[in-house]
Amino acid sequence: MKIYLFLLITFLVQCSMGHYLETRANTNDNLPVIEKYYNSRVNVTELSGLKLSATKDFLWGIGDEGQLAQISFRYKVTLMENFKGVDSEGITIDPKTEDLIVCIEPNRVSRITKSSNYTVIKDIFTVKDANGWKKFGLEGITLFNKTQIYVGAQKDALLWHYDIKGNLIKKYQLKNVASKITEIADLSYDEEKNRLWVLDSELRSIFLFNGEITKLLKTYSLNETQIYNPESIAIDRENGNIWIGEDRKDNPKLFRLKMRNL
Ligand SMILES: *[C@@H]1O[C@H](CO)[C@@H](O)[C@H](O)[C@H]1NC(C)=O
Ligand SMILES: *[C@@H]1O[C@H](CO)[C@@H](O)[C@H](O)[C@H]1NC(C)=O
Ligand SMILES: *[C@@H]1O[C@H](CO)[C@@H](O)[C@H](O)[C@H]1NC(C)=O
Ligand SMILES: *[C@@H]1O[C@H](CO)[C@@H](O)[C@H](O)[C@H]1NC(C)=O
Repeated sequence: MKIYLFLLITFLVQCSMGHYLETRANTNDNLPVIEKYYNSRVNVTELSGLKLSATKDFLWGIGDEGQLAQISFRYKVTLMENFKGVDSEGITIDPKTEDLIVCIEPNRVSRITKSSNYTVIKDIFTVKDANGWKKFGLEGITLFNKTQIYVGAQKDALLWHYDIKGNLIKKYQLKNVASKITEIADLSYDEEKNRLWVLDSELRSIFLFNGEITKLLKTYSLNETQIYNPESIAIDRENGNIWIGEDRKDNPKLFRLKMRNL
């Protein structure tokens, strides 16, 4: 009888220890946590790409109708250029030249030159697989490893790894690593922490991967926020913020997520 009681107690203690350790592992993983969010309207039609400027004091924003704008941290918009008829969906910066690199639906990757004061756009390469994908084509782009590019599509959450000249290095299916993901709406690679932020606008979620895209680190649901159609994401570590823009025709909003452990 005594031995049974002893075994039962040991079992219960082990269970609660296990639960305790698991909870601790989940909350002490040092991964970023969303603490609060703020938003305001921002006057860029269908804001679908965002990137922190090289000077780290404003955001570059780009929209589906070819608007390129500088957006201050107080949501003030300065329209730089209107590339009419260009369905620009994502934006990043080439740190060497400070040119902007954008992806254009369905399948083009282009460069907006700093030397032209951001008025001239030139093609760099096309993603052959995404030819004719129309509204399911390229949606997100980010520089990876300083001289390489990750570019992703809405269709099947496919992602391609290129060098900056447009030579294909590898193709990824994010679903192989994160089975729930449905699409790529935008991408942002965090060089310092070697992590890749991927926005899924259909699920209203963010997926955080390691830089080499072999591991899913964390998933963030935006269900509880008022973010309606998140299509753009940028990271600002110095201020502890993640910025998310909505792709809406009228009065899109720009959200600032205040993060812990970013
Ligand atoms: C929004 O921007 C457009 C130019 O792109 C301008 O014509 C319009 O006045 C702006 N609206 C507001 C409310 O600032
Ligand atoms: C670049 O373009 C912006 C917006 O049109 C303008 O305000 C600025 O003066 C220009 N800078 C130069 C150096 O031309
Ligand atoms: C990143 O770049 C370094 C050299 O700069 C290279 O050794 C490494 O393989 C690259 N990583 C990936 C995933 O391509
Ligand atoms: C909330 O987000 C999860 C993903 O984290 C998704 O599976 C679910 O469908 C969402 N629910 C609603 C109501 O949007």
